[in-house]
Amino acid sequence: MTDASWWQSGVIYQIYPRSFQDTNGDGIGDLRGIERRLDYLADLGVDALWISPIFPSPMVDFGYDVADYTGVHPIFGTLADFDRLLASAHSRGLKILLDFVPNHSSDQHPWFRESRSSRTNPKRDWYIWRDPVAGPDGERLPPNNWISDFGGSAWQWDEATGQYYYHAMLREQPDLNWRNPDLRAAMLDAMRFWFDRGVDGFRVDILWHMIKAADFRDNPLNPDWQPGMADMHKVLQLYSTDQPEIFEIVAEMRALADRYGNKALVGEIYLPVERLMAYYGKAGEGVHLPFNFQLIDAPWDAAALHRMVSEYEAALPEGGWPNWVLGNHDRPRIASRVGEAQARVAAMLLLTMRGTPTIYYGDEIGLADVAIPADKVQDPRELREPGFGFGRDPVRTPMPWDSSTHAGFTMGEPWLPLNPDWRARNVAAEAKDQRSILSLYHALLRLRRAHPALSVGAVRLLSAHGHVLAYERIRGDDRLVIALNLSGETQQFELPEGRALLTTSGDHVPGRLAPDQGVILELAA
Ligand code: GLC
Repeated sequence: MTDASWWQSGVIYQIYPRSFQDTNGDGIGDLRGIERRLDYLADLGVDALWISPIFPSPMVDFGYDVADYTGVHPIFGTLADFDRLLASAHSRGLKILLDFVPNHSSDQHPWFRESRSSRTNPKRDWYIWRDPVAGPDGERLPPNNWISDFGGSAWQWDEATGQYYYHAMLREQPDLNWRNPDLRAAMLDAMRFWFDRGVDGFRVDILWHMIKAADFRDNPLNPDWQPGMADMHKVLQLYSTDQPEIFEIVAEMRALADRYGNKALVGEIYLPVERLMAYYGKAGEGVHLPFNFQLIDAPWDAAALHRMVSEYEAALPEGGWPNWVLGNHDRPRIASRVGEAQARVAAMLLLTMRGTPTIYYGDEIGLADVAIPADKVQDPRELREPGFGFGRDPVRTPMPWDSSTHAGFTMGEPWLPLNPDWRARNVAAEAKDQRSILSLYHALLRLRRAHPALSVGAVRLLSAHGHVLAYERIRGDDRLVIALNLSGETQQFELPEGRALLTTSGDHVPGRLAPDQGVILELAA
Protein backbone atom coordinates (compact mmCIF):
# COMPACT_ATOMS: atom_id res chain seq x y z
CA MET A 1 0.00 0.00 0.00
CA THR A 2 1.83 3.07 -1.20
CA ASP A 3 -0.79 5.75 -0.81
CA ALA A 4 -2.74 4.95 2.33
CA SER A 5 -5.47 7.39 3.24
CA TRP A 6 -5.29 9.33 6.49
CA TRP A 7 -8.01 7.15 8.04
CA GLN A 8 -5.85 4.09 7.37
CA SER A 9 -2.39 5.24 8.43
CA GLY A 10 -3.63 7.66 11.09
CA VAL A 11 -4.79 7.41 14.69
CA ILE A 12 -8.22 8.58 15.85
CA TYR A 13 -8.72 10.19 19.27
CA GLN A 14 -12.20 10.30 20.78
CA ILE A 15 -13.17 13.44 22.68
CA TYR A 16 -16.19 13.41 24.97
CA PRO A 17 -16.78 17.16 24.74
CA ARG A 18 -18.56 17.61 28.08
CA SER A 19 -15.45 16.34 29.83
CA PHE A 20 -12.48 17.59 27.86
CA GLN A 21 -11.93 21.25 28.71
CA ASP A 22 -14.28 23.92 30.02
CA THR A 23 -13.56 27.57 29.26
CA ASN A 24 -16.65 29.40 30.58
CA GLY A 25 -16.86 28.05 34.10
CA ASP A 26 -20.13 26.12 33.79
CA GLY A 27 -18.36 22.89 34.68
CA ILE A 28 -19.00 21.38 31.23
CA GLY A 29 -16.42 21.20 28.46
CA ASP A 30 -16.89 23.25 25.28
CA LEU A 31 -15.56 23.79 21.76
CA ARG A 32 -13.21 26.59 22.80
CA GLY A 33 -11.81 24.16 25.33
CA ILE A 34 -11.05 21.62 22.63
CA GLU A 35 -9.42 24.39 20.60
CA ARG A 36 -7.28 25.33 23.59
CA ARG A 37 -6.00 21.75 23.77
CA LEU A 38 -5.23 21.25 20.09
CA ASP A 39 -1.51 21.69 20.66
CA TYR A 40 -1.62 18.91 23.22
CA LEU A 41 -3.35 16.63 20.72
CA ALA A 42 -1.07 17.50 17.82
CA ASP A 43 1.95 17.00 20.04
CA LEU A 44 0.63 13.67 21.31
CA GLY A 45 0.75 12.54 17.70
CA VAL A 46 -2.84 11.63 16.81
CA ASP A 47 -4.26 12.42 13.39
CA ALA A 48 -8.02 12.79 13.75
CA LEU A 49 -10.42 13.81 16.49
CA TRP A 50 -13.86 12.24 16.80
CA ILE A 51 -16.03 14.52 18.90
CA SER A 52 -19.13 13.00 20.53
CA PRO A 53 -22.34 14.99 19.76
CA ILE A 54 -22.20 18.80 20.04
CA PHE A 55 -25.67 19.50 18.59
CA PRO A 56 -28.62 21.21 20.29
CA SER A 57 -30.18 18.63 22.59
CA PRO A 58 -32.22 18.37 25.78
CA MET A 59 -29.27 16.21 26.95
CA VAL A 60 -31.43 13.39 28.26
CA ASP A 61 -28.81 11.07 26.71
CA PHE A 62 -26.06 13.71 26.79
CA GLY A 63 -26.30 14.79 23.19
CA TYR A 64 -27.26 11.46 21.63
CA ASP A 65 -30.78 12.93 21.63
CA VAL A 66 -30.42 15.50 18.86
CA ALA A 67 -32.96 18.34 18.55
CA ASP A 68 -31.28 20.00 15.56
CA TYR A 69 -28.82 18.20 13.28
CA THR A 70 -27.32 21.39 11.90
CA GLY A 71 -26.56 23.49 14.96
CA VAL A 72 -24.34 23.64 18.01
CA HIS A 73 -25.66 23.39 21.57
CA PRO A 74 -25.01 26.69 23.42
CA ILE A 75 -23.35 24.67 26.21
CA PHE A 76 -20.61 23.85 23.71
CA GLY A 77 -20.54 27.20 21.91
CA THR A 78 -21.65 28.45 18.52
CA LEU A 79 -21.29 27.48 14.88
CA ALA A 80 -18.63 30.18 14.64
CA ASP A 81 -16.72 28.46 17.47
CA PHE A 82 -16.99 25.22 15.55
CA ASP A 83 -15.72 26.78 12.34
CA ARG A 84 -12.78 28.22 14.22
CA LEU A 85 -12.02 24.92 15.90
CA LEU A 86 -12.11 23.15 12.55
CA ALA A 87 -9.79 25.69 10.94
CA SER A 88 -7.38 25.54 13.88
CA ALA A 89 -7.40 21.75 13.80
CA HIS A 90 -6.77 21.69 10.06
CA SER A 91 -3.92 24.17 10.38
CA ARG A 92 -2.24 21.64 12.70
CA GLY A 93 -2.89 18.74 10.34
CA LEU A 94 -5.67 17.32 12.52
CA LYS A 95 -8.91 16.02 10.98
CA ILE A 96 -12.29 16.27 12.69
CA LEU A 97 -15.03 13.66 12.67
CA LEU A 98 -18.42 14.60 14.04
CA ASP A 99 -20.86 12.17 15.61
CA PHE A 100 -23.88 11.62 13.38
CA VAL A 101 -26.90 10.16 15.21
CA PRO A 102 -29.22 8.94 12.45
CA ASN A 103 -31.22 6.21 14.18
CA HIS A 104 -33.26 8.52 16.38
CA SER A 105 -33.75 12.17 17.19
CA SER A 106 -34.80 13.85 20.41
CA ASP A 107 -38.52 13.90 21.12
CA GLN A 108 -37.98 17.68 21.21
CA HIS A 109 -36.83 17.81 17.58
CA PRO A 110 -39.34 19.94 15.60
CA TRP A 111 -39.80 16.95 13.27
CA PHE A 112 -41.06 14.78 16.10
CA ARG A 113 -43.25 17.51 17.54
CA GLU A 114 -44.91 17.73 14.13
CA SER A 115 -45.02 13.98 13.74
CA ARG A 116 -46.83 13.48 17.02
CA SER A 117 -49.21 16.41 16.43
CA SER A 118 -51.65 14.35 14.34
CA ARG A 119 -51.93 11.15 12.34
CA THR A 120 -52.18 13.13 9.14
CA ASN A 121 -49.24 15.44 9.67
CA PRO A 122 -46.84 15.21 6.69
CA LYS A 123 -44.04 14.22 9.10
CA ARG A 124 -46.09 11.45 10.76
CA ASP A 125 -44.23 8.83 8.71
CA TRP A 126 -40.80 10.30 9.55
CA TYR A 127 -41.01 8.27 12.75
CA ILE A 128 -42.29 4.76 13.46
CA TRP A 129 -45.93 4.74 14.57
CA ARG A 130 -48.01 1.59 15.07
CA ASP A 131 -51.44 0.67 16.34
CA PRO A 132 -51.75 -1.23 19.60
CA VAL A 133 -52.66 -4.89 19.60
CA ALA A 134 -55.33 -6.33 21.87
CA GLY A 135 -54.20 -8.64 24.67
CA PRO A 136 -56.10 -11.79 25.82
CA ASP A 137 -58.45 -9.67 27.94
CA GLY A 138 -58.80 -6.98 25.35
CA GLU A 139 -56.18 -4.83 27.05
CA ARG A 140 -53.98 -2.50 25.03
CA LEU A 141 -50.55 -3.93 24.26
CA PRO A 142 -47.56 -2.66 22.28
CA PRO A 143 -47.24 -3.92 18.68
CA ASN A 144 -44.50 -6.43 19.51
CA ASN A 145 -42.04 -7.60 22.18
CA TRP A 146 -39.10 -5.38 21.25
CA ILE A 147 -37.17 -4.06 24.26
CA SER A 148 -35.37 -0.74 24.57
CA ASP A 149 -31.61 -0.84 25.14
CA PHE A 150 -32.30 1.15 28.30
CA GLY A 151 -34.84 -1.41 29.57
CA GLY A 152 -38.62 -1.84 29.22
CA SER A 153 -40.78 -1.97 26.11
CA ALA A 154 -39.37 -0.08 23.14
CA TRP A 155 -42.87 1.25 22.39
CA GLN A 156 -44.28 4.40 23.93
CA TRP A 157 -48.03 5.01 23.96
CA ASP A 158 -49.09 8.41 22.67
CA GLU A 159 -52.47 9.28 24.14
CA ALA A 160 -53.16 12.23 21.84
CA THR A 161 -53.02 10.28 18.57
CA GLY A 162 -53.79 6.80 19.90
CA GLN A 163 -50.70 5.01 18.60
CA TYR A 164 -47.37 3.78 19.86
CA TYR A 165 -44.04 5.11 18.62
CA TYR A 166 -40.86 3.06 18.59
CA HIS A 167 -37.69 3.97 20.49
CA ALA A 168 -34.73 1.59 20.47
CA MET A 169 -33.10 3.77 23.13
CA LEU A 170 -34.88 6.11 25.58
CA ARG A 171 -38.50 7.12 25.13
CA GLU A 172 -37.10 10.63 24.61
CA GLN A 173 -35.25 9.23 21.55
CA PRO A 174 -37.92 8.22 18.99
CA ASP A 175 -36.51 6.20 16.07
CA LEU A 176 -36.51 7.89 12.69
CA ASN A 177 -38.14 6.04 9.80
CA TRP A 178 -35.38 5.59 7.22
CA ARG A 179 -37.83 3.89 4.87
CA ASN A 180 -39.38 7.32 4.28
CA PRO A 181 -37.64 9.02 1.32
CA ASP A 182 -38.21 12.57 2.62
CA LEU A 183 -36.70 11.77 5.99
CA ARG A 184 -33.79 10.13 4.24
CA ALA A 185 -33.19 13.19 2.08
CA ALA A 186 -33.39 15.50 5.10
CA MET A 187 -30.82 13.46 7.01
CA LEU A 188 -28.42 13.33 4.07
CA ASP A 189 -28.82 17.12 3.84
CA ALA A 190 -27.68 17.33 7.46
CA MET A 191 -24.52 15.41 6.57
CA ARG A 192 -24.02 17.69 3.58
CA PHE A 193 -24.31 20.73 5.87
CA TRP A 194 -21.26 19.60 7.86
CA PHE A 195 -19.29 18.35 4.87
CA ASP A 196 -19.81 21.79 3.31
CA ARG A 197 -18.29 23.34 6.44
CA GLY A 198 -15.28 21.11 5.95
CA VAL A 199 -15.60 18.25 8.45
CA ASP A 200 -13.55 15.22 7.53
CA GLY A 201 -16.19 12.61 8.23
CA PHE A 202 -18.51 11.10 10.77
CA ARG A 203 -18.70 8.44 13.39
CA VAL A 204 -22.19 7.06 12.75
CA ASP A 205 -24.13 6.17 15.90
CA ILE A 206 -25.76 2.68 16.21
CA LEU A 207 -25.64 2.20 12.47
CA TRP A 208 -26.95 -1.38 12.58
CA HIS A 209 -30.20 -0.27 14.22
CA MET A 210 -31.32 2.10 11.48
CA ILE A 211 -33.63 -0.27 9.58
CA LYS A 212 -36.06 -2.68 11.24
CA ALA A 213 -37.81 -5.67 9.65
CA ALA A 214 -40.74 -4.31 7.64
CA ASP A 215 -43.22 -6.69 9.31
CA PHE A 216 -42.14 -5.85 12.89
CA ARG A 217 -42.11 -9.48 13.92
CA ASP A 218 -41.51 -10.41 17.56
CA ASN A 219 -37.86 -10.88 18.40
CA PRO A 220 -36.98 -14.41 19.60
CA LEU A 221 -36.55 -14.78 23.35
CA ASN A 222 -32.96 -15.13 24.48
CA PRO A 223 -32.61 -18.59 26.06
CA ASP A 224 -29.44 -17.45 27.88
CA TRP A 225 -30.99 -14.49 29.68
CA GLN A 226 -30.70 -14.60 33.47
CA PRO A 227 -31.63 -12.18 36.24
CA GLY A 228 -28.82 -9.67 36.62
CA MET A 229 -28.44 -9.31 32.88
CA ALA A 230 -29.75 -6.12 31.28
CA ASP A 231 -33.43 -6.13 30.37
CA MET A 232 -32.59 -5.57 26.68
CA HIS A 233 -30.97 -9.00 26.51
CA LYS A 234 -34.26 -10.77 27.25
CA VAL A 235 -34.77 -10.93 23.49
CA LEU A 236 -32.33 -11.38 20.60
CA GLN A 237 -32.44 -8.29 18.37
CA LEU A 238 -32.96 -10.36 15.27
CA TYR A 239 -35.71 -8.32 13.60
CA SER A 240 -35.12 -4.92 15.18
CA THR A 241 -31.55 -4.53 13.86
CA ASP A 242 -29.14 -5.50 11.06
CA GLN A 243 -31.65 -5.76 8.22
CA PRO A 244 -30.50 -6.11 4.59
CA GLU A 245 -32.00 -2.76 3.53
CA ILE A 246 -29.45 -0.94 5.72
CA PHE A 247 -26.82 -1.40 3.03
CA GLU A 248 -28.65 0.79 0.53
CA ILE A 249 -28.57 3.61 3.06
CA VAL A 250 -24.94 3.08 3.92
CA ALA A 251 -24.16 3.17 0.19
CA GLU A 252 -25.96 6.53 -0.10
CA MET A 253 -24.00 7.96 2.82
CA ARG A 254 -20.81 6.64 1.34
CA ALA A 255 -21.56 8.09 -2.10
CA LEU A 256 -22.16 11.45 -0.46
CA ALA A 257 -18.88 11.27 1.47
CA ASP A 258 -17.05 10.23 -1.70
CA ARG A 259 -18.39 13.23 -3.59
CA TYR A 260 -16.47 15.41 -1.12
CA GLY A 261 -13.33 13.27 -1.41
CA ASN A 262 -10.87 12.15 1.26
CA LYS A 263 -13.60 11.76 3.92
CA ALA A 264 -14.20 8.88 6.31
CA LEU A 265 -17.24 7.18 7.80
CA VAL A 266 -16.80 5.10 10.93
CA GLY A 267 -19.76 2.96 11.94
CA GLU A 268 -20.75 2.10 15.49
CA ILE A 269 -21.80 -1.53 15.12
CA TYR A 270 -21.93 -4.09 17.90
CA LEU A 271 -22.29 -7.35 15.97
CA PRO A 272 -20.35 -10.61 15.75
CA VAL A 273 -17.39 -10.42 13.36
CA GLU A 274 -19.05 -12.28 10.51
CA ARG A 275 -21.98 -9.78 10.49
CA LEU A 276 -19.72 -6.79 11.10
CA MET A 277 -17.86 -7.49 7.88
CA ALA A 278 -20.99 -6.84 5.82
CA TYR A 279 -20.73 -3.16 6.76
CA TYR A 280 -17.58 -2.75 4.68
CA GLY A 281 -20.08 -3.13 1.86
CA LYS A 282 -19.38 -4.05 -1.72
CA ALA A 283 -16.36 -2.20 -3.12
CA GLY A 284 -16.66 1.39 -2.01
CA GLU A 285 -20.26 1.11 -0.81
CA GLY A 286 -19.85 0.56 2.91
CA VAL A 287 -18.42 2.58 5.76
CA HIS A 288 -14.65 2.99 5.71
CA LEU A 289 -14.29 1.55 9.21
CA PRO A 290 -16.96 -0.54 10.92
CA PHE A 291 -15.78 -0.20 14.52
CA ASN A 292 -14.14 -3.38 15.77
CA PHE A 293 -14.98 -3.51 19.48
CA GLN A 294 -13.64 -6.98 20.17
CA LEU A 295 -10.81 -5.84 22.45
CA ILE A 296 -13.39 -4.27 24.76
CA ASP A 297 -14.89 -7.64 25.68
CA ALA A 298 -11.91 -9.89 25.02
CA PRO A 299 -10.53 -12.07 27.81
CA TRP A 300 -7.00 -10.76 28.53
CA ASP A 301 -5.35 -13.96 27.49
CA ALA A 302 -2.69 -14.55 24.83
CA ALA A 303 -4.36 -17.53 23.19
CA ALA A 304 -7.76 -15.81 23.06
CA LEU A 305 -6.31 -12.59 21.63
CA HIS A 306 -4.29 -14.55 19.09
CA ARG A 307 -7.41 -16.36 17.92
CA MET A 308 -9.39 -13.11 17.84
CA VAL A 309 -6.82 -11.26 15.74
CA SER A 310 -6.35 -14.09 13.28
CA GLU A 311 -10.10 -14.64 12.86
CA TYR A 312 -10.69 -10.93 12.36
CA GLU A 313 -7.88 -10.64 9.83
CA ALA A 314 -9.15 -13.70 7.97
CA ALA A 315 -12.72 -12.38 7.89
CA LEU A 316 -11.82 -8.97 6.41
CA PRO A 317 -13.18 -8.59 2.90
CA GLU A 318 -10.92 -7.66 -0.01
CA GLY A 319 -9.81 -4.06 0.50
CA GLY A 320 -11.39 -3.89 3.98
CA TRP A 321 -9.15 -1.96 6.38
CA PRO A 322 -8.96 -3.20 10.00
CA ASN A 323 -9.37 -1.07 13.11
CA TRP A 324 -9.05 -1.52 16.88
CA VAL A 325 -10.61 0.10 19.92
CA LEU A 326 -9.82 -0.31 23.64
CA GLY A 327 -12.69 1.72 25.02
CA ASN A 328 -15.23 4.47 24.53
CA HIS A 329 -17.78 6.59 26.40
CA ASP A 330 -20.10 3.59 26.84
CA ARG A 331 -17.79 0.88 28.15
CA PRO A 332 -15.53 0.41 31.19
CA ARG A 333 -12.07 1.90 30.79
CA ILE A 334 -9.15 -0.34 29.85
CA ALA A 335 -7.17 0.58 33.02
CA SER A 336 -10.05 -0.70 35.12
CA ARG A 337 -10.54 -3.84 33.05
CA VAL A 338 -6.94 -5.05 32.93
CA GLY A 339 -5.21 -3.01 35.65
CA GLU A 340 -2.64 -0.25 35.57
CA ALA A 341 0.36 -2.33 34.54
CA GLN A 342 -1.47 -4.14 31.74
CA ALA A 343 -2.98 -0.87 30.48
CA ARG A 344 0.53 -0.08 29.24
CA VAL A 345 0.70 -3.43 27.44
CA ALA A 346 -2.74 -2.75 25.99
CA ALA A 347 -1.51 0.62 24.69
CA MET A 348 1.33 -1.15 22.89
CA LEU A 349 -1.13 -3.67 21.45
CA LEU A 350 -3.56 -0.97 20.25
CA LEU A 351 -0.84 1.09 18.59
CA THR A 352 1.06 -1.75 16.95
CA MET A 353 -1.79 -3.91 15.64
CA ARG A 354 -2.56 -3.70 11.93
CA GLY A 355 -5.37 -1.22 11.48
CA THR A 356 -6.58 2.21 12.56
CA PRO A 357 -6.53 2.63 16.35
CA THR A 358 -9.03 4.80 18.22
CA ILE A 359 -7.82 6.17 21.57
CA TYR A 360 -10.45 7.19 24.13
CA TYR A 361 -9.54 10.49 25.85
CA GLY A 362 -7.92 9.91 29.23
CA ASP A 363 -6.74 6.39 28.43
CA GLU A 364 -3.39 7.93 27.49
CA ILE A 365 -2.89 8.99 31.11
CA GLY A 366 -4.17 5.68 32.47
CA LEU A 367 -7.45 7.08 33.77
CA ALA A 368 -9.57 4.42 35.47
CA ASP A 369 -13.34 4.27 36.02
CA VAL A 370 -14.34 6.75 38.70
CA ALA A 371 -16.88 5.66 41.35
CA ILE A 372 -19.82 8.09 41.23
CA PRO A 373 -21.76 8.71 44.45
CA ALA A 374 -25.47 7.92 44.07
CA ASP A 375 -26.51 11.58 44.33
CA LYS A 376 -24.15 12.55 41.48
CA VAL A 377 -25.33 9.96 38.96
CA GLN A 378 -26.25 11.54 35.61
CA ASP A 379 -26.36 8.72 33.09
CA PRO A 380 -29.89 7.65 32.09
CA ARG A 381 -28.60 4.10 31.66
CA GLU A 382 -27.79 3.97 35.39
CA LEU A 383 -30.87 5.94 36.46
CA ARG A 384 -33.21 3.51 34.67
CA GLU A 385 -31.60 0.22 35.68
CA PRO A 386 -29.62 1.20 38.80
CA GLY A 387 -27.13 -0.94 40.66
CA PHE A 388 -26.15 -3.43 37.94
CA GLY A 389 -23.01 -1.61 36.90
CA PHE A 390 -24.37 -0.54 33.50
CA GLY A 391 -23.83 3.18 34.26
CA ARG A 392 -21.48 5.14 32.02
CA ASP A 393 -20.67 8.16 34.20
CA PRO A 394 -17.55 6.42 35.60
CA VAL A 395 -15.91 6.49 32.15
CA ARG A 396 -16.95 10.06 31.28
CA THR A 397 -15.23 12.02 34.04
CA PRO A 398 -13.36 15.27 33.33
CA MET A 399 -9.89 15.18 31.84
CA PRO A 400 -7.40 16.14 34.56
CA TRP A 401 -4.91 18.56 32.98
CA ASP A 402 -2.80 19.72 35.91
CA SER A 403 -2.77 20.05 39.69
CA SER A 404 -4.50 23.45 39.82
CA THR A 405 -8.13 23.91 40.94
CA HIS A 406 -10.41 21.18 39.50
CA ALA A 407 -7.40 19.81 37.65
CA GLY A 408 -7.44 22.70 35.19
CA PHE A 409 -10.63 21.30 33.67
CA THR A 410 -12.95 24.09 34.83
CA MET A 411 -13.10 27.18 37.01
CA GLY A 412 -16.56 26.07 38.13
CA GLU A 413 -17.93 22.86 39.60
CA PRO A 414 -17.20 19.88 37.28
CA TRP A 415 -20.38 18.18 36.01
CA LEU A 416 -18.98 14.83 37.12
CA PRO A 417 -16.39 14.27 39.85
CA LEU A 418 -12.70 14.12 38.94
CA ASN A 419 -10.66 10.96 39.33
CA PRO A 420 -9.70 10.84 43.04
CA ASP A 421 -5.99 10.61 42.15
CA TRP A 422 -6.08 13.70 39.88
CA ARG A 423 -3.37 15.55 41.81
CA ALA A 424 -0.87 12.94 40.68
CA ARG A 425 -2.60 11.52 37.62
CA ASN A 426 -2.92 14.47 35.28
CA VAL A 427 -1.45 15.50 31.95
CA ALA A 428 1.09 18.00 33.28
CA ALA A 429 2.50 15.64 35.90
CA GLU A 430 2.75 12.73 33.47
CA ALA A 431 4.30 14.86 30.75
CA LYS A 432 7.26 15.48 33.09
CA ASP A 433 7.65 11.82 33.96
CA GLN A 434 9.55 9.70 31.42
CA ARG A 435 8.04 6.55 32.92
CA SER A 436 4.42 7.64 32.79
CA ILE A 437 1.87 5.97 30.55
CA LEU A 438 1.51 9.32 28.76
CA SER A 439 5.21 9.22 27.84
CA LEU A 440 4.68 5.67 26.61
CA TYR A 441 1.77 6.80 24.40
CA HIS A 442 3.97 9.58 23.00
CA ALA A 443 6.74 7.13 22.22
CA LEU A 444 4.36 4.65 20.61
CA LEU A 445 2.75 7.32 18.46
CA ARG A 446 6.18 8.59 17.39
CA LEU A 447 7.23 5.06 16.42
CA ARG A 448 4.02 4.56 14.41
CA ARG A 449 4.82 7.64 12.40
CA ALA A 450 8.46 6.68 11.91
CA HIS A 451 7.78 3.07 10.89
CA PRO A 452 5.51 2.35 7.94
CA ALA A 453 5.59 -1.27 9.11
CA LEU A 454 3.48 -0.16 12.07
CA SER A 455 1.06 2.17 10.32
CA VAL A 456 0.46 0.34 7.06
CA GLY A 457 2.56 -2.84 7.11
CA ALA A 458 1.39 -6.43 6.98
CA VAL A 459 0.94 -8.43 10.16
CA ARG A 460 2.15 -11.96 10.81
CA LEU A 461 1.08 -13.54 14.07
CA LEU A 462 3.76 -15.56 15.78
CA SER A 463 2.40 -18.36 17.89
CA ALA A 464 0.83 -17.38 21.20
CA HIS A 465 3.09 -18.95 23.79
CA GLY A 466 1.66 -19.20 27.29
CA HIS A 467 1.07 -15.63 28.36
CA VAL A 468 2.93 -13.99 25.47
CA LEU A 469 1.28 -12.57 22.38
CA ALA A 470 3.81 -11.90 19.65
CA TYR A 471 3.55 -10.71 16.08
CA GLU A 472 5.59 -9.24 13.30
CA ARG A 473 4.84 -6.09 11.33
CA ILE A 474 6.45 -5.87 7.93
CA ARG A 475 6.69 -3.26 5.25
CA GLY A 476 9.49 -3.73 2.72
CA ASP A 477 12.75 -3.67 4.69
CA ASP A 478 11.02 -2.31 7.76
CA ARG A 479 10.46 -5.33 10.04
CA LEU A 480 9.42 -5.15 13.66
CA VAL A 481 8.54 -7.81 16.19
CA ILE A 482 6.21 -6.99 19.05
CA ALA A 483 6.01 -9.28 22.07
CA LEU A 484 3.56 -8.65 24.89
CA ASN A 485 3.63 -10.35 28.27
CA LEU A 486 -0.01 -10.41 29.31
CA SER A 487 0.81 -11.70 32.78
CA GLY A 488 2.38 -10.36 35.96
CA GLU A 489 5.10 -13.03 35.90
CA THR A 490 8.38 -13.25 34.04
CA GLN A 491 8.06 -15.24 30.80
CA GLN A 492 10.89 -17.03 29.04
CA PHE A 493 10.45 -16.25 25.38
CA GLU A 494 12.85 -16.53 22.47
CA LEU A 495 12.55 -13.66 20.02
CA PRO A 496 14.46 -13.12 16.81
CA GLU A 497 17.57 -11.04 17.35
CA GLY A 498 16.96 -7.35 16.98
CA ARG A 499 17.35 -3.93 18.48
CA ALA A 500 14.81 -2.99 21.17
CA LEU A 501 13.11 0.24 20.07
CA LEU A 502 10.74 0.52 23.01
CA THR A 503 9.51 -1.36 26.04
CA THR A 504 6.45 -0.66 28.17
CA SER A 505 8.73 -0.71 31.22
CA GLY A 506 12.28 -1.73 32.13
CA ASP A 507 15.03 -2.96 29.86
CA HIS A 508 14.77 -5.64 27.26
CA VAL A 509 16.61 -8.80 28.20
CA PRO A 510 16.91 -11.27 25.30
CA GLY A 511 15.12 -14.56 25.94
CA ARG A 512 12.65 -13.25 28.48
CA LEU A 513 9.96 -10.73 29.16
CA ALA A 514 9.65 -9.08 32.56
CA PRO A 515 6.21 -9.08 34.28
CA ASP A 516 3.71 -6.91 32.38
CA GLN A 517 6.33 -6.06 29.80
CA GLY A 518 5.82 -5.41 26.12
CA VAL A 519 8.70 -4.87 23.71
CA ILE A 520 9.14 -3.68 20.15
CA LEU A 521 12.21 -5.01 18.36
CA GLU A 522 13.56 -3.87 15.04
CA LEU A 523 14.93 -6.72 12.98
CA ALA A 524 18.02 -6.22 10.88
CA ALA A 525 17.13 -5.69 7.20
C1 GLC B 1 -24.65 4.91 21.09
C2 GLC B 1 -23.88 5.91 21.90
C3 GLC B 1 -24.44 5.93 23.28
C4 GLC B 1 -25.89 6.35 23.20
C5 GLC B 1 -26.66 5.45 22.25
C6 GLC B 1 -27.97 6.03 21.92
O1 GLC B 1 -24.50 3.61 21.53
O2 GLC B 1 -22.53 5.59 21.86
O3 GLC B 1 -23.73 6.78 24.12
O4 GLC B 1 -26.48 6.29 24.47
O5 GLC B 1 -25.99 5.29 21.03
O6 GLC B 1 -27.84 7.07 21.00
